[in-house]
Amino acid sequence: MVIGLALQGDCMVDYKIERAATGIEGFDALVEGGLPRGTNVLLTGAPGTGKSIFVLEYLYQGALNGENGLYISVDSSLPMIRQQAKLFGWDIEKLEQEGKLFFLQVPLDKMKFNLFEMIESVKKQIGAKRVVFDSLATFAINLDLFTIPLGYAGSIASSVSVDSARDNSTITDKGDKIFYTGNSEKRMIFLILAELRNLGTTNLVITYGDLSGNQLTVDGVSEFECDGIIQMHNELIGAKRMRSMEIVKMRDTNNSPYIHDVQLSSAGFVIKPAEELKL
Ligand SMILES: Nc1ncnc2c1ncn2[C@@H]1O[C@H](COP(=O)(O)OP(=O)(O)OP(=O)(O)O)[C@@H](O)[C@H]1O
Ligand SMILES: [Mg+2]
Repeated sequence: MVIGLALQGDCMVDYKIERAATGIEGFDALVEGGLPRGTNVLLTGAPGTGKSIFVLEYLYQGALNGENGLYISVDSSLPMIRQQAKLFGWDIEKLEQEGKLFFLQVPLDKMKFNLFEMIESVKKQIGAKRVVFDSLATFAINLDLFTIPLGYAGSIASSVSVDSARDNSTITDKGDKIFYTGNSEKRMIFLILAELRNLGTTNLVITYGDLSGNQLTVDGVSEFECDGIIQMHNELIGAKRMRSMEIVKMRDTNNSPYIHDVQLSSAGFVIKPAEELKL
C-alpha cells in the first residue's frame, strides 16, 4: 500500500499511500484523494441517512472508471437496489451485463450458507477492486446461518485460535480450509472483517449503532477492527432534517476534522466543504 518512502537526511519525501478515489462529489477532498487501498472502511449512521445509496454510488463511479465492484447485500433485495440506481440515472444493469458490477444477494433462508466461498468466487470472476457489504449489523443478527473460513494458507484469520466449547461453535476441516460456524458475534465479526481485508479490495462496510449516533455500532467491536469510519447524520434542526457526514477515523490519512453538510440530489451525493470555524 505504501508506494514510496525515501529519507534524505532528516527530511521525508515522496511518501504516498495508494488511494481509491470514490468519485463522489466533494468526498475525496476530505480524505486526501480517496480511501486507502486494501482497507475496510465502516460506514455507519441511522436509518435513511443514505448509507446504501453512498456505497452504490461508490461502486457505480468505480465501475465507470475501470474498477469493478461487488455489492454484497444482506439487507436490500436486488430489484430494490436496481430501482434505486435508476432513480439517480445510474445504468447499473448495463454495467452488470458488461461484468463490471456484480450484486450478490445473501440468502437468509438457507442454513449454514458459506458466504466466503461465494464472495471469493465472484471477486475472482469479475476481478473486483471494490467491495461493499450491506450490512454488518444484519449479518450479526443472522450469524448462526453463516459459515466462515477460519484459516488456510495465507489467511489473516489463520492466526485465530478458537475454543469451540466457549463459542458453542462447529469447526469443519475440509482439507485446504477450516470452516467455522459459531455464536460468538464478536468473533464472527472479526473473522468476516479479516476475510474482507484479505480480498485485497477497498471495502465499504455498512453498519449502524443507536439512533442518537453516540454509539457507532451495535457490535462494539467493528469500529476498532476497521481502518476507517465514516458517520452519516440526519439531524433534526428546527422543522427540518439536515444531512451531514464526518470522518471519525481514517488510518494513514490527514482527514477532515469537520462535519460536512451533505446533499442528496437527483444525481447522487454532494458533500460540501466545511466552513472554517471562526474562533
Ligand atoms: N431519488 C432520490 N433522490 C433524493 N433522495 C432520495 C432518493 N431516493 C432516496 N432518497 C433518500 O435516501 C433515503 C434512503 O437512503 P438509503 O436507503 O441509502 O438509507 P440507509 O442509510 O441505507 O437506510 P437503512 O439503514 O434503513 O438501510 C430516503 O429516506 C430518502 O430520504
Ligand atoms: Mg440501507
